[in-house]
Amino acid sequence: MTPSPPPRVGRLALPSASRHRRGVAIILGLESSCDETAAALVTGERVILSHKLAGQEAAHRPFGGVVPEIAARAHVEVLVPLVEAALEEAGLRLADVDAVAATAGPGLIGGVMVGLVTGKALAFAAGKPLIAINHLEGHALSARLADPTLAFPYMLLLVSGGHCQILRVEGPGRYRRLATTIDDAAGEAFDKTAKLLGLGFPGGPAVERAAREGDPAAVKLPRPLVGSGEPHFSFAGLKSAVLRARDAGIYRGEDIAASFQQAVVDCLIDRTRRALAAQGDVSALVVAGGVAANGTIRRALEGLATGFGLRFVAPPGWLCTDNAAMIAWVGAERLAAGMVDGLDAVARPRWPLDPEAEKARGAGVKA
Ligand code: KG4
Ligand code: ZN
Repeated sequence: MTPSPPPRVGRLALPSASRHRRGVAIILGLESSCDETAAALVTGERVILSHKLAGQEAAHRPFGGVVPEIAARAHVEVLVPLVEAALEEAGLRLADVDAVAATAGPGLIGGVMVGLVTGKALAFAAGKPLIAINHLEGHALSARLADPTLAFPYMLLLVSGGHCQILRVEGPGRYRRLATTIDDAAGEAFDKTAKLLGLGFPGGPAVERAAREGDPAAVKLPRPLVGSGEPHFSFAGLKSAVLRARDAGIYRGEDIAASFQQAVVDCLIDRTRRALAAQGDVSALVVAGGVAANGTIRRALEGLATGFGLRFVAPPGWLCTDNAAMIAWVGAERLAAGMVDGLDAVARPRWPLDPEAEKARGAGVKA
């Protein structure tokens, strides 16, 4: 477990008393829903005062994927020290914080409970409100932390390890899900492909690196649901095709990686184009979630947005993968809207952003 250097976007150079006089809210954000533990302090004016993150890659690597019990134990060990380090770096005490925002789901329930219970204890101790954050809303609004000019409504492609959705984002707590995956998530497909090709864990960045050395047209792979009348995504067939290509024994790993990545790009572009054609009244096309760190995917989406005459907004890479700054930022947006929670907030393994969304076909659909 190695804490990474804090990505710093900015710092308020004012002593805390004047900060309060100016009425700028300071939010402590906690994230622990998967295999990253993180704490951050962010202001309502989008200043990231501090950000601390500890990944668990080394602990999970021998198993080729995230082991929930190992993850939960690691969160217990490092979350409070990360909060202390974040406060110290910002030169603040817990009493200076205006609200505590903790991820309350969806995710691996052991880790979610660690973060939420810690958030409740800190909020109670400081006598400040708790805000129970939907991790997906963290990704969804991360672009507004990165870009102050991004206005609602916008079209969001949310691509992470557990989710692949297109959402119309109308405001905090206001989402219309237009598409989801009927089987695997995009990040899951990257991770499984990396495993099949022996590229290691985590898979997304490894596949992207290998793909740079390969030919995206070398291996013929399917584009599931491309051109389909239904709006959704599917990646399970692509994964099986990668397995067959590998077992054929005639292709270089780099060529399979590049061809796989190109197939994912084609699927994401086709489905997002369909959504944009049906819902034109948006201010921008936004991509978020871990897979949004992928350069080839970002460039393709930027081209798509330009074709529709839309702005394209993608948060910096570190803000796309799991972090606590995006959780604190949702806390800031919700606090400003008066949307706070009680200490009875529950941890939720599943928590759709749009509870009204119709069920998509498919057994493995994730909320
Ligand atoms: O948002 P995230 O950090 O965690 C979840 O909420 O799931 O997303 C993690 C996912 C993993 O599947 C990882 O392989 C993928 O994002 N990912 C990438 C890249 N970086 C991370 N996929 C493709 N290219 C990347 N550069
Ligand atoms: Zn995430």
